[in-house]
Amino acid sequence: MDENIRTQIDQYISALYAPEDDALQQIRHAPQQHDMPAIAIAAHEGRLLQMLALSVNAKKIVEIGTLAGYSGTWLARMLPPGGVLYTVEKSSKHAEVARQSFEQAGLSNRVEVLQGDAHDILQKLAASGPYDFVFIDADKTAYAMYLNWAADNLRPGGMVAAHNALRGGRVLAPQSDDDRAMAAFNRVLAEHPQLESTIIAVGDGMAIGIKKR
Ligand SMILES: C[S@@+](CC[C@H](N)C(=O)[O-])C[C@H]1O[C@@H](n2cnc3c(N)ncnc32)[C@H](O)[C@@H]1O
Repeated sequence: MDENIRTQIDQYISALYAPEDDALQQIRHAPQQHDMPAIAIAAHEGRLLQMLALSVNAKKIVEIGTLAGYSGTWLARMLPPGGVLYTVEKSSKHAEVARQSFEQAGLSNRVEVLQGDAHDILQKLAASGPYDFVFIDADKTAYAMYLNWAADNLRPGGMVAAHNALRGGRVLAPQSDDDRAMAAFNRVLAEHPQLESTIIAVGDGMAIGIKKR
């Protein structure tokens, strides 16, 4: 699809189904204000995440890669009473900004920001599982490892979603280590024995897998 049409369609979906309130707008701008990379998901991808979490009745969610809390805010808002989002962030600065974001959005009571390398934090989180939904949006070269963790720690029927599955189309002809990592990740997901999977070609591609019963 022509890139210009694609952008207009994304904006059309966002305007209809994912209008941002003040809190989401502030959180989207927080990376600029705090000299952090502006690499959050788009609003229509946030709405897609909400629908995916809702479709599996998610009460316990793990997010890997918090940044300023933008995707976490979309997810946490969809939690039922008593639900919880554990969001894992390596950078202490990003984690601090995210805590402020969740506070501003009135979500601190249902979000735990866990600061540290996901490789360590996920080992600890395994003890509090199983989980209903896992969202992967961090270092691309570790996606396959995060996927295996999700497959082991989701309840049957639970879902894993991974952002940037298409890398702007570059998974077709990888140009960097991250592109190659995502192309490899997509193959691992497609053949994963514990998961039914596909890629939703919306935004930069949302790969999803549902744990087999
Ligand atoms: C693409 S951003 C996340 C964007 C966020 N999900 C959103 O849409 O609002 C990736 C984040 O993952 C964090 N990260 C990278 N490697 C990590 C690791 N090994 N463990 C935990 N977090 C990591 C980065 O510091 C960065 O904040």
